[in-house]
Amino acid sequence: MVEKNETLIIPGEDEVIDAEIVRKGEVLIAYSNCYECHKEENKAKGPSFQAIAKRYPMQQVYLDHLARKIISGGSGAWGYPVMEAHPHLKFEEAKMMATYILSLEEK
Ligand code: HEC
Repeated sequence: MVEKNETLIIPGEDEVIDAEIVRKGEVLIAYSNCYECHKEENKAKGPSFQAIAKRYPMQQVYLDHLARKIISGGSGAWGYPVMEAHPHLKFEEAKMMATYILSLEEK
């Protein structure tokens, strides 16, 4: 079943991102608990990282938004249950994670 919210795509041009940030974000995610609820290609307890990448353009404003959401947790954007909070993460770390996730968009 495809959730209605998964078809929502925010239009916008991607900004150029430093590959080093993407790499650090990947490492941070590997050492956190994200994969308990997220998979790269398929939905799990939360939306797939590729679905998230498809929705948001690679822009600072969305990276900031996603970083705040990773830290504070919450619901309502996708029609899934709640994402738990990650209050121990620094904002810059959460933002690197968000950058990695948005880099996974299928071309
Ligand atoms: C307990 C399960 C769970 C864990 C652990 C989890 N997530 Fe999530 N995540 C979710 C759910 C559920 C949603 C959908 C929330 C919604 O509908 O607003 C979500 C949504 C997201 C989104 C999209 C938010 C939006 O507003 O569009 C991002 C980005 C994300 N998660 C990243 C992460 C990262 C990075 C980690 C690891 C630090 C992580 N998640 C760990 C369950 C989880």
